Amino acid sequence: MMIDAISFERDALRYLDQRFLPLKEVRVATRDYKRVIEAIKTLAIRGAPLIGIAAGYAVVLAARQFKGKKKNFRAHLFKAIQEIEASRPTAVNLFFATARLKRVIDAELAQSDIPELAQKLEREARLIHDEEIERCELIARNGLRLLQQEFSHVLPFQRLTVLTHCNTGELATGGVGTAFGVIARAWEAGLIEKVYASETRPLLQGLRLTAYELEKAQIPFEVVSDSSAAFLMQKAMIDFVIVGADRIAANGDVANKIGTYAHAVAAHFHGRKFFVAAPISTIDFAIADGSQIPIERRANLELTRIYGRSVAKDNLPALNFAFDITPHSLVSAIITDKGVLKPNFADAIAELAPEQTESYDNA
Ligand code: MRU
Repeated sequence: MMIDAISFERDALRYLDQRFLPLKEVRVATRDYKRVIEAIKTLAIRGAPLIGIAAGYAVVLAARQFKGKKKNFRAHLFKAIQEIEASRPTAVNLFFATARLKRVIDAELAQSDIPELAQKLEREARLIHDEEIERCELIARNGLRLLQQEFSHVLPFQRLTVLTHCNTGELATGGVGTAFGVIARAWEAGLIEKVYASETRPLLQGLRLTAYELEKAQIPFEVVSDSSAAFLMQKAMIDFVIVGADRIAANGDVANKIGTYAHAVAAHFHGRKFFVAAPISTIDFAIADGSQIPIERRANLELTRIYGRSVAKDNLPALNFAFDITPHSLVSAIITDKGVLKPNFADAIAELAPEQTESYDNA
């Protein structure tokens, strides 16, 4: 499946504006880092790994846009990076990407002129992009193996039904996807009967984007309202749940799209496995637990309007959290590119990258 969600060509960032999907495929090319910030804020570019990839390229554009003297270059770039980091708070991939580019600036600035440094930043941004694509492949492979093991008792007799939430495919990652990648590989291997995609209120990433990707991949699916997940489990229509993540704390607590926690509670109550698939760039090793993850609150209008059309008074009191935290006790396994983590997650995560303890200052 090639959706071509994002690329960097001829010094411009090219992306599919996801706000218009699936009705219109609007492609944008920009050389302005501020336009990339706007795209991230408005969810034209979205999904944790894709936000990280776009943030990397935004720094490259900011370097290319600089017209002043070299002595002012670092200040310009760090100011631009601060603006990029202020675009969205929850997905840690963004800060993972900017931290890498800051390291390149500080390591290379003294011995490089401005065009050379911009070149080095581009190399690093492309590396981040390539690594995310590679990580998706590894997650998909590890996830397939996990499903084969977990369901070895039923797979000779029946195929599996799965519930997923929000959007985790190429549109969210640039690669085969996180949760979506596992589903796609499992479908190809003959393990999956059907996918239930919850619509994902209020911005409908499940209805608009996951359905678009499932259709392209020719995987059988039905969109369901977010609130029907528990009922489908009660009717034994869902074998397992798999979602992506925007940030995972060091103890395995998972921040993901609002509604994820409710699915996890329902899965726990009904004895269904609840899997999280995420690259290690989504793990924030410096955050002890989920209570420290900054949760984005978005405009009330996203609730009172549907697709820009008012369905209630614009000034209605409304509370619009974009993400929630699923406690690690509800998570059966975290499928990463470095392997499948099982409880105790704190130990498994500490083992994964004991040297990485950098904290992302974005509160
Ligand atoms: O607000 P969004 O659409 O950026 O939220 C995206 C999600 O919550 C995804 O589930 C998450 O980023 C995992 S993506 C691979």
